[in-house]
Amino acid sequence: MKIEDLAIPEPAKQVIIKSGITELYPPQEEAICEGALEGKNLVLASPTASGKTLIAELCALKHILERKGRVLYLTPLRALASEKYEELKRYSSLRKTDGRRIRVGISTGDYDSSDNWLGQFDVVVTTNEKADSLLRHRTKWMDEISLVVADEVHLLNDKDRGPTLEVVLARLLQINPNSQLLALSATIKNADEAAEWLNANSITTEWRPVVLKEGVARQNEILFKDGGATKIEKQSTNPAVNLALHIVGSGGQALIFASTRRNSVSLAKKASFEVNSRLSKPLKRFLQRLSEQILTAGERTRIGDLLAELVKRGAAFHHAGLSGAHRRLIEKAFRNGKIKILTATPTLAFGVNLPARMVVVHDYRRYEPGYGYYPISVLEYKQMAGRAGRPRYDKVGEAILLAKNEDEQDYLLESYVLAQPERIWSKLAVERVLRSHVLATIAADFAHTEQGIYDFFSKTFYAYQYEAKAIQGVITKILKFLHDERMIEVSGKDIHATKFGRRISELYIDPVTGVLVREALQIRAPRLTDLSYLHMISHTPDMFPKLRPYSREIDELALFVDQHGSEFMFPVPSEWEDHIAFEEFLGEAKLAWVLESWIAETSEDEMIGKFTVQPGDLYRIIDSAKWLLHASHELARLFKHKDILPGLSEVMQRVQKGVKRELLPLVRLEGIGRVRARILYNADLKTIADLKKAHIKKLTSLPLIGLKVAKKIKDQTGGFIKSEEWKKLKKGEESEQKAITEY
Ligand SMILES: Nc1ncnc2c1ncn2[C@@H]1O[C@H](COP(=O)(O)OP(=O)(O)OP(=O)(O)O)[C@@H](O)[C@H]1O
Ligand SMILES: [Mg+2]
Repeated sequence: MKIEDLAIPEPAKQVIIKSGITELYPPQEEAICEGALEGKNLVLASPTASGKTLIAELCALKHILERKGRVLYLTPLRALASEKYEELKRYSSLRKTDGRRIRVGISTGDYDSSDNWLGQFDVVVTTNEKADSLLRHRTKWMDEISLVVADEVHLLNDKDRGPTLEVVLARLLQINPNSQLLALSATIKNADEAAEWLNANSITTEWRPVVLKEGVARQNEILFKDGGATKIEKQSTNPAVNLALHIVGSGGQALIFASTRRNSVSLAKKASFEVNSRLSKPLKRFLQRLSEQILTAGERTRIGDLLAELVKRGAAFHHAGLSGAHRRLIEKAFRNGKIKILTATPTLAFGVNLPARMVVVHDYRRYEPGYGYYPISVLEYKQMAGRAGRPRYDKVGEAILLAKNEDEQDYLLESYVLAQPERIWSKLAVERVLRSHVLATIAADFAHTEQGIYDFFSKTFYAYQYEAKAIQGVITKILKFLHDERMIEVSGKDIHATKFGRRISELYIDPVTGVLVREALQIRAPRLTDLSYLHMISHTPDMFPKLRPYSREIDELALFVDQHGSEFMFPVPSEWEDHIAFEEFLGEAKLAWVLESWIAETSEDEMIGKFTVQPGDLYRIIDSAKWLLHASHELARLFKHKDILPGLSEVMQRVQKGVKRELLPLVRLEGIGRVRARILYNADLKTIADLKKAHIKKLTSLPLIGLKVAKKIKDQTGGFIKSEEWKKLKKGEESEQKAITEY
């Protein structure tokens, strides 16, 4: 089927054709035949890169351009939300029947907001969590949604992110029973079941745009799924690098999945030594420039320096410890074919579109603290393998597992290559997860009787897969907890949320967090300091990521806890009576210490050295901390602890920027991050008034303050620059380009 022949407005077709797509892929055609454009609910399960997004786009266009509809696009990750947002924006030149252009919006952060401004958009892309939080605020425009796209719905199976997706879908179906639902999934065994739950038809295909050859390598031979075998010349002692070099030799790129960050780094190092001699001169020059870009993107750190060093030689690593800026640079360079060998942790397998001619799955086992090693699921293997083959560039993609001996080779062929992905199972019935959803059901008025709550949860995937009764026991227990903690009130059959309960639901925090913060603010530490607040939030179940103390840190952390004993809001567990709780407490203390160091202006590199906390982790910690400090501030307000509001608010601002108190006025300026603010402050430019008075030459004489930044400062502080002076300076500046990124 050609794009030309689709039942969508002509200008929309032109946008698609212009982007290089003229004909539908077979799974896309199937979806159209199943009534995707006629408003039918569909679950589309098909392999990586089989073009599921385009189906969603076609449906969205139909709704917006012909039915005055509104579209919600759900994704499991922020990175994915931005990717989809960018893709959808290419339709923003199209006009609706009222003559206005299509507006695309994105919203992923700030859970305590009803974001009514999102109502101006025709399509809104969000994460599942953000959508959940919006539903808790009963945001008006959500009642007008006519199409819900749920991307990567196989994540219903994920114990962390699955339950939220499930609840969001059930709620959206409840408030808009007539809206269309399009669920996109990797191939799974029970797509039918998910479809039945959602009252949808299901389409399952194995079609891929590039043929995928899966195999298992042992010594110098790859055994393929179809029984064929290929011998590989030995160019490296490392089997994964050897395969990668082989594919680079044939003009392709390789993506190696490693199980840990450390392995991904060491493999990238090995690869970089061996691939370097195979790069052309122009490519080396490009990589040299990229390497310099890496060094200047954000604060200098040892991890950035190492990455820059490897990139110069044609290889790189990609994991959650990297800063966002570095990750984006690496992704782009790999997509453009510049980086030849990329090693990555499995997080890359989800979502982000980064195909390579060859995928090597280095470890099929994964380690989880407390559980030990376990083999990954077939579903996960297939997601990684599916990244093999670049549409339009590669004829065939190869996905290879590594075996040490014949037995292992047989095992891997049997258990992964020839195996079918598992069924997905709802993970909703866990008390910790369900607590906040039960509260939200009451607080946001989705139900106000016990029966109403059961009825709502009987519409979830969990109830569909097991039976509604299985979840009732947990819900009853949770209701009792919520009642005991005064989050809900009961009169006769009627259940409603108290102010406290409603606020917790809106703040998007776990009810247990709410209780902990309420008690802490009531009882308080004997000596209330910044650390008290930072530890308080680190102690809550919502703090993520958690930090586990390394054994080498235990003594130092125990000493830290001892020295700061009077500043903690919660009693320190006894090391001898409850060792597990004690170590957990040390982990929380470490988190609080990390945050305290951050607002004492410790550099990102020092944070790696002192705490083994990498930039990516640090940003996630900061993100959680900002949200939990905001929540604490709101609860303090609710309980009328006026005396601590200014202190809490100040810590929150300092965590956001990573500065000491004295820099707060300076970092409020746009373009001024903590590094530049410190430079200004140390040059005796300590206040906005100082900056207003300062001569522009004084500003530009400082490190990291170029003309653009200086002008930006002047624009904001109200200073005046004579035009001839501006011209003179501009001439001098031309050779020296300094970016305005926040520093
Ligand atoms: N009909 C088509 N013709 C040519 N290219 C297409 C067509 N449909 C989609 N593509 C391209 O295929 C690529 C992969 O599509 P998409 O991201 O939608 O995959 P997906 O099925 O969502 O996979 P994943 O499981 O990785 O999310 C995109 O670059 C898209 O532009
Ligand atoms: Mg997709």
